Amino acid sequence: MHAALFLALFVLATFAAAADLYKVLDVHQSASEKDIRQAYKRLSKRFHPDKNKDPDAENRFVEIARAYEVLSDPTKRQIYDRHGEEGLKAHEGGQHQQANPFDVFQSFFGGHQHQQARRGPSSLTEFEVQLSDMYQGASIDFMIKKKILCDHCRGSGAASDNDIHTCTSCGGAGVKLVKQQIFPGMFAQSQVSCNDCGGRGKVIKKKCPHCNGSKVVDHTAHYTLDIPAGMSEGHEVVFEGEADESPDWEAGDVILRVRSKKEKGGWRRKESSLYWKETIGIDEALLGFERNLTHLDGHIVPLVRKGVTQPGYVQTITGEGMPISGRSAHGDLFVEYNVVLPLEISQQTRRKLAEAFQSPGSAHDEL
Ligand SMILES: *[C@@H]1O[C@H](CO)[C@@H](O)[C@H](O)[C@H]1NC(C)=O
Ligand SMILES: *[C@@H]1O[C@H](CO)[C@@H](O)[C@H](O)[C@H]1NC(C)=O
Ligand SMILES: [Zn+2]
Ligand SMILES: [Zn+2]
Repeated sequence: MHAALFLALFVLATFAAAADLYKVLDVHQSASEKDIRQAYKRLSKRFHPDKNKDPDAENRFVEIARAYEVLSDPTKRQIYDRHGEEGLKAHEGGQHQQANPFDVFQSFFGGHQHQQARRGPSSLTEFEVQLSDMYQGASIDFMIKKKILCDHCRGSGAASDNDIHTCTSCGGAGVKLVKQQIFPGMFAQSQVSCNDCGGRGKVIKKKCPHCNGSKVVDHTAHYTLDIPAGMSEGHEVVFEGEADESPDWEAGDVILRVRSKKEKGGWRRKESSLYWKETIGIDEALLGFERNLTHLDGHIVPLVRKGVTQPGYVQTITGEGMPISGRSAHGDLFVEYNVVLPLEISQQTRRKLAEAFQSPGSAHDEL
C-alpha cells in the first residue's frame, strides 16, 4: 500500500517537475525538436538583457537557456521527462555547471551548426476555393498527410537510447581511412564513408518498434487557411516548417497557391472586377425591366434597364466588384446581357407584332 502510494506521489512529482522546463519555453511536452528551437529562438530574443530592460528579464533569459540546453538534447530530455530535475542532477553527477546562457545564445544565432541545417523539401499545392470565400473572406480547414518524427524514439530510430551504439568499425567517426597502393611501394590514404553505419558513426542494435527504425511515422495534420476578403488569385500562403519532418533536416514549408474555382455560367473574376451574364427575354430587351441579382454573399443587386437593351450590352455597376484588400473599397461589376428569342410565336402574336412594327414611328421604319 505504502509503496504504491509512494510510487503514485513520485509519478505525480515527476510530472509536475517535467512540466516546468516546457513551461519556461512555452511548449507542450510532446513538442518536436523544431518547436523547441523555434520557442528558444523567439523567447531568447525577447528576454535578452541587451534588449529587455525589465529587471526580471535576465532571470528569464537564464531559465530559457537552461530549458533549451536540456530539451534540445534528446538524452537529457528523456531523463528529464522520466525523472525530472532530480534525475538530471544525478545524470550530471552533481557537477553540472550550467552552460553560459550567452554562449548558448551566441552559438544558436551565430553558430555554424544552425546555418548548416539542411532544409527538407517544401511542397506546393494548388488549392481551389469558392469565389464567394474570396469575396467574403473565410477560414477553411484542411488536412495534410505528412511524415513526422516518431514520438516514441524522437527520430533516433532506436528502441531506447541504450540501443544506440558507437560504430565499432569506424569508432564513431562515420569515415574510415583506407590505404591504397597507387604505385608499387607507394601508398595513399583516402577517406571513405563507413559502410557499417552508413556514415553516421552510430549503429542501432534494436529498432524502435513504433516506426520500425524509420524514424518517422505517417501523420494527418489539420490546418486552417485564412482567406482575407479580396485575396488575389494565385496568392501563395506559406505554412512555415510544416512539410515532411526528418531527423536529417529542418522541415520545409507547405505552400498553398489559392485560386477560385471556375464554374460554368457562374461568376467570373479578374482582379477586382466581377463579371456576370444575365439572360433576358426579347420583351425585356425591348421594353426594359427590373430584376434582382443575388450577389456572392447573398445580398441583392437591382438590375434596372429602361428602354432597349442590345444583346451583348455590358452594364457597369460601380462598387459591386471584389473587395480590394487593404482598402475599404470594391471594384466594379460588369453585367453582360444575353437576349433569348422565343422558339416560335403564335399566329395572334405574329399579327400584333407585324402591326406594331408597321405603325408609323416604329423603330423598324427609322432604320
Ligand atoms: C513494421 O514492420 C512490420 C513487419 O515488417 C509491419 O507489419 C508493420 O506494419 C510496420 N509498422 C510500421 C509502422 O511501418
Ligand atoms: C427585388 O428585391 C426587393 C427586396 O430586396 C423586392 O422588394 C423587389 O420586389 C424585388 N424585385 C424583383 C423584380 O424581384
Ligand atoms: Zn561506422
Ligand atoms: Zn521510432
